[in-house]
Amino acid sequence: MNVEALFAIRVRTPRLELGLPTLDELEELYRVAEAGIHPPAEMPFAFAWTDNLRHGIFLDFHQGALRDWRPSLWECHFVTFAGGRVIGTQNIGAREFATNREVGTGSWLGRPFQRQGYGLEQRAAILEFAFAGLGAERAKSGALVHNVASQRISERLGYRMTGVSEVAPRGEPVPHHDYVIERGEWRCPIEIRIEGLEPALPLFGAFPQSG
Ligand SMILES: CC(C)(COP(=O)(O)OP(=O)(O)OC[C@H]1O[C@@H](n2cnc3c(N)ncnc32)[C@H](O)[C@@H]1OP(=O)(O)O)[C@@H](O)C(=O)NCCC(=O)NCCS
Repeated sequence: MNVEALFAIRVRTPRLELGLPTLDELEELYRVAEAGIHPPAEMPFAFAWTDNLRHGIFLDFHQGALRDWRPSLWECHFVTFAGGRVIGTQNIGAREFATNREVGTGSWLGRPFQRQGYGLEQRAAILEFAFAGLGAERAKSGALVHNVASQRISERLGYRMTGVSEVAPRGEPVPHHDYVIERGEWRCPIEIRIEGLEPALPLFGAFPQSG
């Protein structure tokens, strides 16, 4: 499927820019991951991909998402830029968005870029993209029990915790907090500009939003 239109999308916050990466930018993202996302003793992800980081697999994960893109099943892995450099990623994905209007999100930042409010800012950006840009009704997120930063971001942005599930990234079960925010609960705390989305809306199974 021709996904070229996705590359024109830019989501801008006061300090950040989100967009799909060029190959060079994807390589830069890999180097950010390689430099470290979390202390080795902690695993923030439900799937422990950072325990076995491989250049080829990393690139294929991102490029494969575009190769496999269908309006009924998509994963959009935006790269996050601060001051023109790659600092991490913010993704959004959906299955059958045209009928259920539900998205899920996930993100990470390189360690040097954490604890500066960028995590909150990029999640706010993706929620505004989902609700105002795509017309989503609901957005889901989740965080392992020890991931205070991710939980704080969900709480500050108005998500509700809906329950606790279980994942086992390193074989042992770990509680996972499940969060949801509905369209009517979303109040964007910062100024966000979305550019270049309209020609790409059919790729998301979405329609132009009024206002
Ligand atoms: C989760 C992550 C994206 C958050 O981004 P961030 O830029 O570091 O977070 P922010 O600076 O926006 O901080 C958000 C809140 O979490 C708190 N926080 C951040 N890091 C923290 C830490 N290590 N321990 C405790 N609190 C922390 C901040 O103080 C802030 O709280 P406040 O709202 O009460 O002031 C980032 O830390 C990260 O990439 N972590 C590793 C990967 C990961 O966990 N991904 C998410 C998987 S669900």
